[in-house]
Amino acid sequence: MLESIALNKSQSAGWKKVVRKETKIIKPYIPGKPIEEVKEEYGLEKVIKLASNENPLGVSPLVEKTIKEEISNINRYPDGGSSTLKRDLAEKMDVDEDMLTIGNGSDGLLKVIAEAFLESNSRVIISYPSFVEYKFVSQLMGCQIVRVWMRDYRQNLQGILDAVTSDTKMIFLTNPDNPTGTMLPDKEIRKLLDRLPDDIIVVLDEAYHEYVQGPDYPDGINYIKEGYPVIILRTFSKVYGLAGLRLGYAVSCAGIREVLMKVRDPFNVNHIAEKAGKAALADEEFVQRTIAVNEEGKEYLYGELDRMGLYYVPTQANFLLIKVDMDSDILFKKLLKRGIIIRSGKPLSFPGHIRVSIGLPEENREFIRNLELTLE
Ligand SMILES: Cc1ncc(COP(=O)(O)O)c(C=O)c1O
Repeated sequence: MLESIALNKSQSAGWKKVVRKETKIIKPYIPGKPIEEVKEEYGLEKVIKLASNENPLGVSPLVEKTIKEEISNINRYPDGGSSTLKRDLAEKMDVDEDMLTIGNGSDGLLKVIAEAFLESNSRVIISYPSFVEYKFVSQLMGCQIVRVWMRDYRQNLQGILDAVTSDTKMIFLTNPDNPTGTMLPDKEIRKLLDRLPDDIIVVLDEAYHEYVQGPDYPDGINYIKEGYPVIILRTFSKVYGLAGLRLGYAVSCAGIREVLMKVRDPFNVNHIAEKAGKAALADEEFVQRTIAVNEEGKEYLYGELDRMGLYYVPTQANFLLIKVDMDSDILFKKLLKRGIIIRSGKPLSFPGHIRVSIGLPEENREFIRNLELTLE
């Protein structure tokens, strides 16, 4: 009897009536395919993943050592303020500790920012196409999203300025951008910030900051020091190689940070992540090696793509957007069967393109070899 009541209830699925309308419209995030899944699906022994802009070198040996040492401490709750990591970050960037919010990756911090500042019908402006999480967190809060399309693969700051209205609350920018890899120079960002009213927060996502080689690339933290209402996002997932641990940080004025701290979960950063982040910061040699491998890989890929006559967007980050002039989902699948995971441009709103992370020299070579065979 009881069982049949339960069955009836599950079949009527009345719970669907209580799903938030904001949640209903959200399409789940599709991450880069994991290596193990591809191995199993295609019966492959070796798979190369160049899909999620991770660090191909792995992690610093100092991080590995620290993680092993810290395992015995995970019976305790973490330090909710991540105080030791915060101290080292503050020193490295020459900012006050009360300007730092540590989070469960930049993704986690984007959600904290949205929950703290955005509400139903807030108007947010997103440079488009761009990293999908800005849209996700804005949709979650029921915001009115205004997309300003890129021009020639570059974020259109004049277009963004033109789209600003009195009810605009937030603008999302990425520097350098994902998935194009292009960067915004200091002069352009300053022009935008100078013209914006002071009640609009600019979230400047600098996930790939450490890779940039361009001379006009700004350190976004200076905007905060100068008093602009900017939140900078940085991550340990890329150059520091800690994507699997989920660790990122936001830099803002102390007032904004106070608001963010009200919203974040009290233990949003786990103990291992905090200690690993601290160790990663201490190993500058690993960071420099990562950047050198990326530069070398970039030059190799540029040369090979030139030889093949394929257009690519010159990048300031650790990935490359390549124009392939064919259905990128088909190319993605063909490469997948050959054990090479990249990203199709279609779901990134760049149909006819693929995005490939810059890997180790042998990974880059295998990618080019298979790309050539696939395009034949
Ligand atoms: C522009 C940008 N921001 C943020 C993230 C997410 O970073 P995290 O791993 O810290 O959540 C990514 C990851 O690919 C990214 O490309």
